[in-house]
Amino acid sequence: MPSPRDASPELQAAMDEVTQAVNRTIERLLPDTDLPEAPLYDAMRHGTLNGGKRLRPFLAIHSAFLFNVDSARARRVAAAIEFMHCYSLIHDDLPAMDDASLRRGQPTVHREYNEATAILAGDALLTLAFEVLADPETHPDPHVQCELVRTLAIAAGGHGMVGGQMLDLIAEDDDVEFDAGEISRLQRMKTGQLMAFACEAGAILGKASEPQRRALRNYAYDLGLAFQVTDDILDVEADPQDTGKDTGKDEAAGKATFVSTMGKEAAKSRAEMLAAQSKRHLKIFEGRAKMLEELADYVLERRA
Ligand code: IPE
Ligand code: IPE
Ligand code: MG
Ligand code: MG
Ligand code: MG
Repeated sequence: MPSPRDASPELQAAMDEVTQAVNRTIERLLPDTDLPEAPLYDAMRHGTLNGGKRLRPFLAIHSAFLFNVDSARARRVAAAIEFMHCYSLIHDDLPAMDDASLRRGQPTVHREYNEATAILAGDALLTLAFEVLADPETHPDPHVQCELVRTLAIAAGGHGMVGGQMLDLIAEDDDVEFDAGEISRLQRMKTGQLMAFACEAGAILGKASEPQRRALRNYAYDLGLAFQVTDDILDVEADPQDTGKDTGKDEAAGKATFVSTMGKEAAKSRAEMLAAQSKRHLKIFEGRAKMLEELADYVLERRA
C-alpha cells in the first residue's frame, strides 16, 4: 500500500496517529460476522480497511481539536465520514462509472467480489455513516446528531458529492464541453463537499461560532479543489505503484479536468493558488490550526 510522502515529520506523525485511531474505530464499528450476510461485511471491510490516506478523518479530528471536542466522539464522526468516502470510491470504481481495477493497492471491491456485492457494500456503508452519526455515543445532544446527519446528507447528496459524480459522467460526452467555472463547480461538488463536511463536523461537535464554521468550510472548499486538481495531475504523471490505483484513465474516458482544459503546468499553478488561499481562511484561529495549514502544502506535494 502506498504511504503518503513529502509531509513534514510533525504532519506525518499526526497523520499516522489519525490513521491508527480511525482504523481502530472502523474495526469496532464493522466487526466480522458469522451471519449468512457475511460476504457483504467482508466486502465492506475490504473497501474500508485496506489503506487510504484518511484525509477526511484527519480534517474532522483536527477541526474538532480546535474546539476541544472529546476525542472519542471526533473519532466516531471521522469513521462515519470515511464510510461515506469509501462507499463513494467503491461505486466510483464500478464498470458503469470509472471501471477501475485497482484501489489502495488492492483489487477494487467489484473485482475482489462481484458487481452486485460492490453495489450493496457501498449502500450499506452509506447507511452505516448515518447510523453512526445519529448514535448517542457520537453525541448525546439530539440537536447535534440531527445537524451532523442533515449536513452530511446535503454534502453527499444530489447537489453535493453524488451530483458532482453525475456531472463528471455528463462531461465525458464528446458533445459536452465544460468551461473552468463548470469544472470548479463539478469538483467542489464531487470532492469539496465531503471535505467541507469533515471540517464542519468538528465545528458542529464543538458548537463553534458561525464565523469559525464558515472559515473551516471555506478552507475545505479551496483545499478540496487543490486536492482534486492534484489528483487529476497524478492521474497523468504518477505511477500506480505510488498511487495504488489505476492511472491514465481520465484522458481516455474524456473527463473534464483542469489538466484537460488548461494543461498540466497551469493546473499546477492553479492548485498552488488554491492551497495558499485555503490557508488564509484559517487566520481566524490565530495559529492554532497549524496542522490544517500544513495539510494544504501536503495536498500539493503528495505522490499518492
Ligand atoms: C480519492 O480520494 C478520490 C478523490 C476525491 C480524488 P483519496 O485520494 O483521498 O483516496 P484515499 O482515501 O486516500 O484512498
Ligand atoms: C472520485 O473522483 C470522486 C469521488 C469518489 C466522489 P476520481 O474518479 O477522480 O477519483 P479516483 O481518481 O478514482 O480516486
Ligand atoms: Mg470518478
Ligand atoms: Mg475514479
Ligand atoms: Mg482521479
